[in-house]
Amino acid sequence: MGWIESAKLVHSIATKIIDFLSHIQEFQKRLWLKKKFVLSTDYCLTLDRVPEEFYPEIIANTPQLEEWKDLFAIHEIDANLFNPPDKEGREVAISVDFLKENPNLILDTGNFDFEFKDRLLAHFDDLDNETDGLLIHGENFQALNLLAEKYQESIKAIYIDPPYNTDASAILYKNNYKDSSWMSLMADRISVSQGMLTENGIFCAAIDDVEAANLRQLLQKLFGKENELGTATVCSNPAGRQRPTGFAPAHEYAMFFGLTGSAKVGRLERTKEQLENAKIDEQDRLFTWKGLRSGGGPNAFRTARPRLFYPLFVKDERIRIPRMEWNNQSRQWNLLESPGLDETKVLPVKPDGEEMTWGYGVETLSEKLSETIARTDRHGNIRIAIKRYLNEEGMLPKTWWGKTEYSSTQYGTIFLTNMLGDSLAFMFPKSIHLVEDCLTVSSLDKNDTVLDYFGGSGTTAHAAINLNREDEGNRKYIIVEVGHHFDTVLKPRIKKAVYAEKWKDAKPVSHESRLSHMFKYQRIESYEDALNNIEFNEPEHQNLLMDEHQLNYILESDTKESPTFLNISELKNPFSYQLKIVKDMQTQKQDIDLPETFNYLLGLSVQTRQCLKDDDRPYLVYKGTVGQKTFVIIWRKTVGWEQQDFERDYSFIQENKLTDDANEVYINTDSIVPDAKPIDPLFKKLMFE
Ligand SMILES: C[S@@+](CC[C@H](N)C(=O)[O-])C[C@H]1O[C@@H](n2cnc3c(N)ncnc32)[C@H](O)[C@@H]1O
Repeated sequence: MGWIESAKLVHSIATKIIDFLSHIQEFQKRLWLKKKFVLSTDYCLTLDRVPEEFYPEIIANTPQLEEWKDLFAIHEIDANLFNPPDKEGREVAISVDFLKENPNLILDTGNFDFEFKDRLLAHFDDLDNETDGLLIHGENFQALNLLAEKYQESIKAIYIDPPYNTDASAILYKNNYKDSSWMSLMADRISVSQGMLTENGIFCAAIDDVEAANLRQLLQKLFGKENELGTATVCSNPAGRQRPTGFAPAHEYAMFFGLTGSAKVGRLERTKEQLENAKIDEQDRLFTWKGLRSGGGPNAFRTARPRLFYPLFVKDERIRIPRMEWNNQSRQWNLLESPGLDETKVLPVKPDGEEMTWGYGVETLSEKLSETIARTDRHGNIRIAIKRYLNEEGMLPKTWWGKTEYSSTQYGTIFLTNMLGDSLAFMFPKSIHLVEDCLTVSSLDKNDTVLDYFGGSGTTAHAAINLNREDEGNRKYIIVEVGHHFDTVLKPRIKKAVYAEKWKDAKPVSHESRLSHMFKYQRIESYEDALNNIEFNEPEHQNLLMDEHQLNYILESDTKESPTFLNISELKNPFSYQLKIVKDMQTQKQDIDLPETFNYLLGLSVQTRQCLKDDDRPYLVYKGTVGQKTFVIIWRKTVGWEQQDFERDYSFIQENKLTDDANEVYINTDSIVPDAKPIDPLFKKLMFE
């Protein structure tokens, strides 16, 4: 074969390989962007929110009682609580009265069966509003994409503390993300989350020196330079991080950006020293004395602002402005009177003779004379001071954050160890006080929501809970975390943070907290799960290499009915829709939560969730809102239904007034309910939008 023929052959093989790879890549992208399923949904809530009719079932639930012993050391409240064991050796002495006396115990519906959960949730009239927090166990890009519709323009603050991409904290999801891939990973996630911020929302990212410059550039591009609110340098490691060469880093940054120009940073509480120096006037306002003479800066000198250089006449503590006129030619004030016998003329001149200016012009100062005072210092110099009222809401944040409470070791690691008892449970938690201040500076007000999609040990949720504890606020949190510590650290920490304020040796210092709380936790399908659930209709297509020229067709159409793409024919049995899920290194088939997935795709805010029965036919009915419209979503099992079944279905829906007052009604599979829309095609469409 000549070289031209060889080249042609190589070219044709290469083209085929490129085509093949590009089809696979397109397919992978589709799978990556596909909205992921909610695998499971559970709630944790304090007992004050659980109707007493459930209490007898609760005290009979051993896993729940064991959890309370383990997390809250309830056996230490009363030594006889679990003694003596009953005849079968079970510890069941706990009583309904004990539950009534301890309303801050947190029930986890994960310890109960579906039937219990359905009955319990049916008691809520405004389920989403009454839910204070949402924890998502899953990869954050997938989670953000799923949540984006529901939470668009509704989050006031985003706080993230991504892995810093250093040897001290490598990114978990895929190790060794370096520079450009770290940046694109961040860019993808930040852009999706931006759509969830309110117009005046604030984004805050914790970062160290390694990626600070890159991240700042990225944030300036995504938010606009004009919306950069500031960067705080935080002394988070006062001892300095030891490294073999170079300096020992003691600081990191918190970068703040507003979504638009209407974002305003919140004020921080004043420090103890500031408050110690403050005085209170007759109207109960806090103030400090501030020298009237300008201290520094180019405008502080007479040469720069000659109109601010004028004499004041002082008698004892009182000050008056003498009669004088401005001379435009000489650019100075001419005195029209001399000081009285007991008056002294004072100019804004330093002891070394340097001519400065007063802090106010003649007109403004004449209105503020009652707020001034004259004092003679120990060198005999007369000093004039003016009251500076402290803003009641606190002070504007400065760029240097040096409080000892920002130490990650003391108020992150040790603080968490006191709660959980295991110092190795989670590496590098932030100081709880630092995150509280970041949320305050992000203007997270009493009824606002904060989102953190690099959740870690859950410091952000804990900070929101603490702020609520302080001012009886109703701040909500959404936390996303992919690691296994979701179950071992994050979730138990939030339960503990709600149960009690202070912890020592993994036990509450007091059992007396009276916080009422409910959070929801969900697991979502991962990209790997999606990949695992691709099924081929034609068995020979399992081996793609055998049929590469039809690859596009095969990938697009032959996999259409794969569970991960929503197999519509399976929606007849929506309560048993299954996916293969890898858990603890094992693949198992698992029922997944289609209704919750659909709610996210629609962007539904749920008001009620009811489970009804028409004899043995189960119905799951959600009522809620999307924007201004009210929606009703009805799920039922329709396997094998015929005309008369659909008629019975319609009567049941009518008799129970399920669709009353709804602007839109959605029902799974077929129905003869007038104006109701089928869920199935919309579900499939929204999964790929
Ligand atoms: C530096 S830690 C956050 C610590 C947290 N601020 C605290 O105080 O506990 C970063 C967290 O992001 C999580 N993470 C990394 N990549 C993720 C991803 N793609 N999706 C969700 N979580 C991710 C890691 O598992 C880790 O827990």
